[in-house]
Amino acid sequence: MNPIPEKNTLALHVQNDFPSLQRKRRGKQVIYFDGPAGTQVPLAVIHAISDYYRKYNANSHGCFDTSRETDNMVLETRKLLATFLGSSSWKTISLGANMTTLNYSLSKAIRRSLEQGDEIVITQLDHEANRGPWLELEKTGIRVKEVRIHQNGTLDLDDLARKITRSTRLVAVGMASNALGTVNDMHLIRNLTRQAGAWLLADAVHYAPHFPIHVEELDVDFLLCSAYKFYGPHAGILYTREGLLDQLEPDRLKTQDQQAPFRIETGTPNFATIAGVGETIRYLSGIGSGVSLRDRLVSAMEKIGSHEQELALKLYHDLRSRPGVKIYGPPFEKYKRTPTLSFTVEGKTAREVACFLGERGIYVWDGDFYARRPVEVLNLLNQGGLIRIGMSMYNTGKEVERLTETLNELFKTI
Ligand SMILES: Cc1ncc(COP(=O)(O)O)c(C=O)c1O
Repeated sequence: MNPIPEKNTLALHVQNDFPSLQRKRRGKQVIYFDGPAGTQVPLAVIHAISDYYRKYNANSHGCFDTSRETDNMVLETRKLLATFLGSSSWKTISLGANMTTLNYSLSKAIRRSLEQGDEIVITQLDHEANRGPWLELEKTGIRVKEVRIHQNGTLDLDDLARKITRSTRLVAVGMASNALGTVNDMHLIRNLTRQAGAWLLADAVHYAPHFPIHVEELDVDFLLCSAYKFYGPHAGILYTREGLLDQLEPDRLKTQDQQAPFRIETGTPNFATIAGVGETIRYLSGIGSGVSLRDRLVSAMEKIGSHEQELALKLYHDLRSRPGVKIYGPPFEKYKRTPTLSFTVEGKTAREVACFLGERGIYVWDGDFYARRPVEVLNLLNQGGLIRIGMSMYNTGKEVERLTETLNELFKTI
């Protein structure tokens, strides 16, 4: 394959920021193509987390310095996240352990505003974290309808249009598939949802690391993402349209703050992690350019996205030329998609390929990535699922070349 010129690439600029990239296996630096499962963390974020414990560790709402500093830091993180997501109010940003836990809390809260026979629409494409909490509600008399996918990993939009009806109260859909790289047409989904008078919930966990997000333009009611997928620590983020969370009845203690965004946050938060999340947004903003923080964040995400697309495209062309490799998900030529490539290799299970690469210091995922439903629908579950290679901002063209050379070695063994 043609070498990618590495002068001035984003990856070279940021590589020294990530200490874990120095890790070696068999004398060579390891390659992290496991970004869709969680990205590496820059030193600035690691420092922000340890500084929290070193300098101002305290519980919130006390009448002393460290407690006030903790409160200020949490507020600042909410403001940074609001800007990152394109929301004009920090009151729209709730924090939690991870996306799954927040979505479960939200599903219980939403259930309390529904009536027997109300309908929720989910999709076959989604990660189980955006299916399980809604499917659970079937036990309580809510009807859950599932939108089908095509073989190429795109949503069946006719089926979607049929399944959203006057009885639909919520459409819960992923913006991008962590298994197949599909990017959904949120504009169309939003229009269908609004025509039915339903709420729209977007799972942006796999979208947020690769594209800028404008929640207000998207016109969603709920949006969830996870900081550990975009270079931050393990934390979940929930955006709720301003005013809406106050109308819902999440599980909560009578002693806690009853207003949004706190209304859905139970117990003592992981303050150190929240400090890390705030620093992640500051770190990302340093990659972009522009006058306002929002401009810098949008520019950063565009820069990251186009760097990753270039790498994914190179790998895509290489994989396509290999007999015995079958790539899943929508083709790059025709569809907007994330830089996440999933495939199978004839004669090897996904686990065998991942282990072969892992032994050689190339970290990739295999299986269903908790997106079990699409992998099941594509009839891949009983063969061990897919091999998934995800590009992140610190990956380089040379790393893609090392991967393809290592795949050449693997193919000699088949
Ligand atoms: C698309 C998507 N949605 C939801 C989740 C669940 O996120 P969390 O691990 O924060 O619960 C993941 C995690 O891989 C994901 O990729």
